[in-house]
Amino acid sequence: MKPYQNLTVDHMTLLLDPELYGVMYLVYRCVFGVAREDVLYDRRRPAAGGKGEVSMTFASRVGKGGPVGGTAMDNTIIATVQPSEPAGERSHVREMLADHAAAAHWQHIALRTPDLIAFHRHCLERGVNFITPILKDDHDDLIQVFSGELYHPGGKPSAVFFEFVQRNPSPEAVKMLEERNREAWFRDKTFLGLYQEKENEYRSGKVTPFLDPELHRSLQGLIAGRQVFELGDADVAAADKLMLAYGAAKARTPSTAR
Ligand SMILES: [Fe+2]
Repeated sequence: MKPYQNLTVDHMTLLLDPELYGVMYLVYRCVFGVAREDVLYDRRRPAAGGKGEVSMTFASRVGKGGPVGGTAMDNTIIATVQPSEPAGERSHVREMLADHAAAAHWQHIALRTPDLIAFHRHCLERGVNFITPILKDDHDDLIQVFSGELYHPGGKPSAVFFEFVQRNPSPEAVKMLEERNREAWFRDKTFLGLYQEKENEYRSGKVTPFLDPELHRSLQGLIAGRQVFELGDADVAAADKLMLAYGAAKARTPSTAR
């Protein structure tokens, strides 16, 4: 394991039907003991008809880690999102829930790395798809990037993906990223950046997979019907080689709009 692969859970994101959303807020407060100051952020949108606001999302700190509170990095955080678009307007959050015929869905888990630039490069070299460049959130002083969804060729998007984050990035890392993706840098706060990106994907029907279908099929070919416990280190090394070759070929071809 490389140092940048020492991943710890930063937060998890739960999608909820509006029927559950308010009730779960109260559950966090009463059952999980979330105090007002443990609601780390909330985002709202103007309500349909221009009267008042509708909650889009809020994040609850449900734990601070360690027996005596730990450090800020030990926080356990659940971000909760409801479809806040008016009825009749498209909403990828509503579709994700409807596609699962469920009122609740764990959408993504955010894993924290001590070096996001290195980890991101490691992923790209192996053909992993991302739906955004590395984004920066000034408010939370973090940099983050969002992967494609987990699904297989011919299957349906699962509405499950990963976020990778680094907190308190060094000024040098920030400057490097700033130069690399200037136009993506200054857009909406990153929650809204991800939100819009997913909305665009669901509206277009083109949901980026975590791995391209070709790479997925090659890995399936390598597995050749075996059980995971039958896969040895040699198979893992072969898979890594396959992914690196795929990633290198992909880096050589001009990227399609993704
Ligand atoms: Fe997130």
